[in-house]
Amino acid sequence: MTARVSRAVRESVLDEIVFDAETIRQRVGELGQEIGDYYPEGELVLVGLLKGGFMFLADLVRCIPRRHKLDFVAAASYGSSKESSGRVRLLYDPETDVAGKHVLLVEDIVDSGTTLNRLVHVFRERAPESLEICAFLHKRLARGSMLEPRFVGFDAPEKFLVGYGLDYAEEFRHLPYIASLKE
Ligand code: PRP
Repeated sequence: MTARVSRAVRESVLDEIVFDAETIRQRVGELGQEIGDYYPEGELVLVGLLKGGFMFLADLVRCIPRRHKLDFVAAASYGSSKESSGRVRLLYDPETDVAGKHVLLVEDIVDSGTTLNRLVHVFRERAPESLEICAFLHKRLARGSMLEPRFVGFDAPEKFLVGYGLDYAEEFRHLPYIASLKE
């Protein structure tokens, strides 16, 4: 841990660093290779979930050694609370026609699984050739998931996590590491 990072942790409401920037860089590189190896011929479209997935997606696409396209979907269920509202609002719906294509939903974290269940439902109706999920973090709490992520960066602890795209009340998204929030 660098001095800069440890000072940021001491002086803020962050508790501890759960995954540091170098660990993330290495794992994202591996995930990019896994994804490149997994997909057969055909068009691949990565659909990144905003806002939380923006940093993971930006790093991941640079590590996928095969042609692919990129689009975004914006969904929100947490607002400024630490608890999911249980209702997922679709704020932006991608314009890409995904029919007959391999679609990979790229999510920052699977917590209750509510967001992904909603999106899996939405995308299945669009007749993709295949539909898979890549989650940077997975808390393994979700029950009754419509589709388990095929690619997972890390299993995550049952804490409120911020950084690397994840926020608390829109703060901390810029941190290059994943940290837990103090209780
Ligand atoms: C967060 C996070 C995931 C989702 C996971 O998004 O970024 O997308 O919640 O939680 P779930 O598995 O319980 O549904 P949020 O709704 O806070 O929106 P954001 O991505 O804009 O931060």
